[in-house]
Amino acid sequence: MTSSDRRTFAIISHPDAGKTTLTEKLLLFGGAIHLAGEVKARGAARRARSDWMKIEQQRGISVTSSVMTFERAFDGLGDITFNLLDTPGHEDFSEDTYRTLTAVDSAVMVIDAAKGIEPQTRKLFEVCRLRNVPIITFVNKVDREGRDAFALLDEVADMLALDVCPMTWPAGMGGQFEGIYDLVDNRLLLPEGDSREFQGKVERFTGLDDARLDSVLSPEGVARLREEAELAMAGYEPFDAAAYRAGDLTPVYFGSALKEFGVDSLIDAIARHAPPPRPQPAEPAPVDPGAGEVTGFVFKVQANMDPNHRDRIAFMRLCSGTFKRGMKLTPTGHGKPIAIHSPILFFARERELADEAFPGDIIGIPNHGTLRVGDTLSERAAIRFTGLPNFAPEILRRVVLKDPTKTKQLRKALDDMAEEGVTQVFYPEIGSNWIIGVVGQLQLDVLLSRLDAEYKVAAGLEPAPFDTARWVSAADPGELANFMDLNRSSMAKDRDGNPVFLAKSAWEVGYVAERYPAVTFAATRER
Ligand code: G4P
Repeated sequence: MTSSDRRTFAIISHPDAGKTTLTEKLLLFGGAIHLAGEVKARGAARRARSDWMKIEQQRGISVTSSVMTFERAFDGLGDITFNLLDTPGHEDFSEDTYRTLTAVDSAVMVIDAAKGIEPQTRKLFEVCRLRNVPIITFVNKVDREGRDAFALLDEVADMLALDVCPMTWPAGMGGQFEGIYDLVDNRLLLPEGDSREFQGKVERFTGLDDARLDSVLSPEGVARLREEAELAMAGYEPFDAAAYRAGDLTPVYFGSALKEFGVDSLIDAIARHAPPPRPQPAEPAPVDPGAGEVTGFVFKVQANMDPNHRDRIAFMRLCSGTFKRGMKLTPTGHGKPIAIHSPILFFARERELADEAFPGDIIGIPNHGTLRVGDTLSERAAIRFTGLPNFAPEILRRVVLKDPTKTKQLRKALDDMAEEGVTQVFYPEIGSNWIIGVVGQLQLDVLLSRLDAEYKVAAGLEPAPFDTARWVSAADPGELANFMDLNRSSMAKDRDGNPVFLAKSAWEVGYVAERYPAVTFAATRER
């Protein structure tokens, strides 16, 4: 096994486009049958189900569906291991979602055929674009009445400024749906079975002009398919693997996750086209997956679901080297090496302690809070991965403690949650009201319920007199000190002690930035 047989990817979509259904079907077709149907289990049901996992039993940590790994053999490629990283599928956006996308090599963008590109798809796409993450598009729900396939392709091309290349084409949609034609292999995916709804038969043809097509599809269906598919092949870019991998072109597959149409074509596309692990941005130099030393970074920390335990799982993406159980890795900047005796690998079939892992794999490292989001781990600690950003919060709130004797507990809770990336916390230079910042509303609900359940701290949130925050820095320390002195009432420190300017509006940021040209105001901060 090497990193070249790893495909580490995420699915990006707007809620309801079918991410959960597609995830289940990918696992089903990938051989992890017992997980199908379980992905959607939430809360208690999910916790109860995951009791087969030792670590979950002992410590009450449920990591189900954060990372799903499955393997499958492909002609000419051999065994491919897929690591599917879950991006939380809430209406609301969290930093967790952004950061998960820093740990993947490619993404599948799921679009509802009736709705096209929706707001969250677009936001997630922008994050992928920042890192040139290549994207395969899956137009879902073609079994239902949808928008015209050409209109959908043009929308992807126009809204996302991407070249599109249809790889398959629907033979009708909704009531007229008869199957899906593979434009590359000239195969037709046809419904089979009693209900004639689910994908079953696959027939091969010599091309769209093959006369046998007339006996398989209805006369209107075959005429429409020939006309549309020929137009599509002439009108859009041909597939170009290099352009896809550079993030400039997206191959498009049509299908129905629910009716299992096109899911195997999608898996095949990920195996054949999606990139294996790539060099990761790091200081002093990018790290090549082929480098011998074991390196990785933590992109997510998941806290215990059982409030009586303080254990956490840090999710590390392995970037280079062959990881072996018991290995000692050092978090850059913290000094002490950690022996990793009980790493967790996320094989969907059997969740077991990992003995070995390869670049592109995700390892769960149980710890007591030593590991933080953004940490680099390596054998020799001479590098630091870059590009795991903190995002300027879009919502700021003042935390009001209901019982003033709980100040210490509150500070601990806010620090913990800032470490996990649930929220950001800012400690103003003047005044005693701590301020928390989030990217999406949902994070506020999570914060309050966890304060109550895990830390037994009753707190409320009030509007803060600020609207946004910027990390400030300057080449000349004197300039920074001067700026901070003159703006003390707007200054705060983040969890790591970095200076942050709290602004009443985005306009104020612009105004102040103009007055202090020597100071840099950053909307993201790399950790
Ligand atoms: P999400 O994770 O992206 O939010 O979407 P999810 O898979 O939960 O799918 C949202 C709804 O769309 C579900 O229906 C699901 O059954 C349906 N769906 C997903 N893929 C397809 C498809 O290919 N064709 C059709 N016709 N429907 C699809 P629901 O009624 O909201 O939920 P449920 O009660 O069926 O679970």
